[in-house]
Amino acid sequence: MVAAALAGLALIAGPAASKSASPSAPPLYAHVQAAAGAKVYSAQCAQCHGEHLEGGVGPALKGPNLVRLAKKTKLAVGDMFSFLALQMPLNAPASLSHDQYVQVMAYILQSNGYPAGAKSLTYDGAMKSSVVMTTYGK
Ligand code: HEC
Repeated sequence: MVAAALAGLALIAGPAASKSASPSAPPLYAHVQAAAGAKVYSAQCAQCHGEHLEGGVGPALKGPNLVRLAKKTKLAVGDMFSFLALQMPLNAPASLSHDQYVQVMAYILQSNGYPAGAKSLTYDGAMKSSVVMTTYGK
């Protein structure tokens, strides 16, 4: 009985408690977006950021390097997205479609352990997102 009551409480507390002690990655994008983003990434970004986002000429976009940077600059998803959508690729800024940028962002989120969800990420939504950019379980 106690366990059931507690489980109920946890359910109710869920979304509202997202700022509390044990963080879990929020779903921000749809799976198909990340899958499409992987292709855009390898065509447009991998040559500088590494085949697996590990970094190269450009900084790593996942893992410890990203976490360090994110902490230092209090990086939100919206900050990273506005940077990549307006400044990247370095050799041709803002040259991809809005959809392609959103797909790449979804791929970067997926690569950092954010789960896919029922809702698609949108260009405006990504620009405004104040969700903390970090790495989960990687
Ligand atoms: C020609 C090389 C090149 C290409 C192609 C390129 N980048 Fe970059 N990227 C860089 C460099 C160099 C930096 C660091 C620039 C700076 O700090 O001003 C950077 C910075 C970034 C950052 C900021 C990361 C941080 O740690 O500050 C993001 C996000 C990013 N790139 C994403 C992308 C995405 C997504 C693509 C593909 C659409 C892409 N880049 C394509 C070279 C590249």
